[in-house]
Amino acid sequence: MTEIGHCPVLPTEVLEFLDAGREGTYVDCTLGLAGHAVAILERNPRSKLIGLDRDGQSLEKARERLADYAGRVKLFHADFKCLPELGIPFKKVRGVLVDLGISSFQLDSPERGFSHTHEGPLDMRMDLRNKTTAGKILHTYPEQKLVEIFAKYGELAQTRRLAREIVHLRKLGRLETTSDLRILTEEVYRWRPQRGRIHPAAKAFQALRIEVNQELEGLGPFIEETVRLSIPGTRFVAISFHSLEDRIVKHTFAGLASSSDRAPLLSILTKKPVMAGEEEVAANSRSRSAKLRAAERV
Ligand SMILES: C[S@@+](CC[C@H](N)C(=O)[O-])C[C@H]1O[C@@H](n2cnc3c(N)ncnc32)[C@H](O)[C@@H]1O
Repeated sequence: MTEIGHCPVLPTEVLEFLDAGREGTYVDCTLGLAGHAVAILERNPRSKLIGLDRDGQSLEKARERLADYAGRVKLFHADFKCLPELGIPFKKVRGVLVDLGISSFQLDSPERGFSHTHEGPLDMRMDLRNKTTAGKILHTYPEQKLVEIFAKYGELAQTRRLAREIVHLRKLGRLETTSDLRILTEEVYRWRPQRGRIHPAAKAFQALRIEVNQELEGLGPFIEETVRLSIPGTRFVAISFHSLEDRIVKHTFAGLASSSDRAPLLSILTKKPVMAGEEEVAANSRSRSAKLRAAERV
């Protein structure tokens, strides 16, 4: 685990938009290593926290980190899309946080296969109880579906060529590790390190990870349902790390704030997404692409 593993993004802004000084229950839907969770619990010593993570290994790390607050914390090994089924006391909930994507702990664990800079299996599952790994997708998806996934979720060019090479390599049994996939992308995109250029493997890994974990699936309906279940005054804060996620958050908040066919359920608190300042980006490079949006239940 790196230092960044302990370093939540936009911590001051998260507390501010959750209005976490208020006593009550806060739901951290993406607990990770509990960086934001600790900040919330510290902000008001009488507040309680409900934390969820679909990654059992992360959850155990978070549990250790939250040991000092155990009496005020309840944790679930669950996908946040199951939140409505967990018996959450929504009448007491003051704030809901979703910090999307993967954590540095996951990225820095080679055996999880999330990072193209570490040798590991092509896994990329956040929840190890699920069956679909990145390897399974690469070995079983039709070529055309691979073309679409890399274009849509990785925003890569030339995805026909990439998909064709994947199908070629898999027939030869030479696509088994993260390094195999990284080297393939370097060949397809004729990679030369250049300032400001993103490694093509980073984009390909992002695309696969989104598909493996179905990260965009049901995100909008989850926000809608949680907003409906909550009481007026509840704050919603969502942090996303790529445009597809941010678009879903933005449109879902906007739909719930619209008064076209019924009374609005949300008031938007951030006209534009809030982003990390230079100082935070310098200290934590992961914060560079973070976009925070917040709204309040009316
Ligand atoms: C960016 S990290 C969160 C970091 C955390 N806020 C902190 O301060 O340490 C995202 C976490 O959310 C989890 N996650 C992603 N999608 C999830 C989902 N649909 N349901 C539950 N957990 C999810 C990941 O496993 C990961 O641990």
